[in-house]
Amino acid sequence: MTDNFEHPDEGRAWLSPSLAPLAFAAGLILVLIGLVTDYIVFGVGIAIAIVAGFIWVYNSSREVREAPEPEVADEPPVEAAPAAPASAQSAQRYSRGGLLTGATIGLGAVIGAAVTVPILGFAVAPAFIDQGEDDIDLGPIGNFPEGQYVIANFDFKRVNNEVEAPSVARRTAYIRNNGFVGDLPSFTILSNRCVHLGCPVQPAGPTGDASDVDGLSVTLVPVQPANFSCPCHGGAYDTEGNRTAGPPVRALDRYQFKIVNGNLVLAGRFSVSEVDGQGSEAKIKAYKLYPPGTHVDGPDQWMTPLVS
Ligand code: FES
Repeated sequence: MTDNFEHPDEGRAWLSPSLAPLAFAAGLILVLIGLVTDYIVFGVGIAIAIVAGFIWVYNSSREVREAPEPEVADEPPVEAAPAAPASAQSAQRYSRGGLLTGATIGLGAVIGAAVTVPILGFAVAPAFIDQGEDDIDLGPIGNFPEGQYVIANFDFKRVNNEVEAPSVARRTAYIRNNGFVGDLPSFTILSNRCVHLGCPVQPAGPTGDASDVDGLSVTLVPVQPANFSCPCHGGAYDTEGNRTAGPPVRALDRYQFKIVNGNLVLAGRFSVSEVDGQGSEAKIKAYKLYPPGTHVDGPDQWMTPLVS
């Protein structure tokens, strides 16, 4: 008796029924960890979750798939019995337990997708979407006296050099004309976005009178900062943008620039870990633009969120 016993599940499940959900959960955990650490961990998590999820569904639906076919008699009956209703035939092929299992898994999958897909979309999509910035014409370089900081307020999104209306994209940069290096002009152009959580950084020093640039939606205000400080959590930066105190994780972001027909034109931002030296002599450790709160180099970068 014992030798002939065959367990109905023996050798059929691809993975222990209790292990597949655990592997699926482990895959999701790796996905979440990968979102804040590394693309590779994220990809491995996706792969494990997909494979484990498939096996989980496969094992759970086995009862439905392997329901016995109704037996067909070799000899036709002498008198044909009336055909069974369709619902009765279904009841023969699918047990109630199998139907409930399939419905539960299907409903769970729909709910899980409804919750997970938007979250993953919002978390990952920005990394693949072009978030480039338009060039910004700030007017003649003669408006920027050598060796002095100027606060420039401007609209950062433009269409054919016309400000989009209504404009909700007002920005500020702190600009210092460093004079010429050979034939090339040198400018230090700091973003006012704090690299802790993004609050507007303020210059600590007296300001002069504001003036508008003709034909452009640009306002310039001379300022003599001793440093820059953030009102939100006490972050502080020196006049080169280096962090000197508080929670910011790197130096202030900077703008690239170009000179077009004698005008100073901003051409997108980049991130900076630190600046060694001052003005036109400064050595800048530059990186592509990262969000606030993100380390751009050193061991701390390993905990960098998934960004492009
Ligand atoms: S946002 Fe600037 S210190 Fe926190």
